[in-house]
Amino acid sequence: MLLRQLYDHESSTYTYLVADPASGQAALIDPVAEQQERDLALIEELDLTLALVLDTHVHADHVTAAGALRPRTGARTAASARGAPCVDVPLEDGARLRVGAVELEVIATPGHTDDSLCFRAGDQLFTGDTLLVRGCGRADFQNGDPRALYRSITGRLFTLPDATVVWPGHDYTGRTSSTIGEERRHNPRLAGKREDEFVAIMDALGLPPPRKLALAVEANRACGTVPTLGYRDLDPPTLAELAGTIAMIDVREPHEFTGELGHVAGSKLVPLATLLDAARAWPRDEELVLVCRSGNRSGRAAQALAGAGFTRLYNLAGGMLAWNAAGLPVER
Ligand SMILES: [Fe+2]
Repeated sequence: MLLRQLYDHESSTYTYLVADPASGQAALIDPVAEQQERDLALIEELDLTLALVLDTHVHADHVTAAGALRPRTGARTAASARGAPCVDVPLEDGARLRVGAVELEVIATPGHTDDSLCFRAGDQLFTGDTLLVRGCGRADFQNGDPRALYRSITGRLFTLPDATVVWPGHDYTGRTSSTIGEERRHNPRLAGKREDEFVAIMDALGLPPPRKLALAVEANRACGTVPTLGYRDLDPPTLAELAGTIAMIDVREPHEFTGELGHVAGSKLVPLATLLDAARAWPRDEELVLVCRSGNRSGRAAQALAGAGFTRLYNLAGGMLAWNAAGLPVER
């Protein structure tokens, strides 16, 4: 079996290329949208055919490349039946996937999220965010459950042979892999810990919510593809969470911007008639939220920008009317 570990620096995500050199069949596990050119170049250099794209779960910290790779390569996409509805092959515990002569066993490991899976190929185990080197994924959002996570790790993964190699979905400190035996003995959250002790450790982590969680989860439920109109809708509470981390363009007229409905603090006024001119100077891969009075003009604005090559567009659904109705703060 050919195995390559690839890394996305921005999200600290590991992607794995797994292939059968004899048949040339290959699979990618947890590919990142922004890294698809790198991954495809490697697949081509190694003379492989991408047959399968796997996600260990619906990610909250990066957007999957699955939906983009499918039409580009003809690969099938696979992930948990409890996760994104967009996949070609919904997976259940115990399922087996073939990549040429390589067989991948699906192990359901709910806890980090309710749709988390691990994939085992012989003595190589791809653990997603369930088990990390000397750590584990958090269990405080996306239907996470620390008790389920403890049982998945100790009841399923730790029953595998000690020599099984652990390939994690992330690392934040430069570590690349481990083994089941090593983690059972040295993982500080799990070694010698009972379930209640593990739950107490997880409850005490007090981590901030991941940046742009709502955007990534929404995108990944569609396998990372952008809808036909070229943008996604955001509801007011989601935008309120993102304010300050994402560029907001208000496409109304100046008197509306300063009028009764006000505007979202930090948003920039670019009336619809001047938008395409102004947008010439903006990077095409920048995330932009379009805002107007009711969501109509901003929807048209987003479509126009999509036509101009922008790829990460959002529309405040219901506009400032909905924002005000939700009782969110405005500037005037
Ligand atoms: Fe995750």
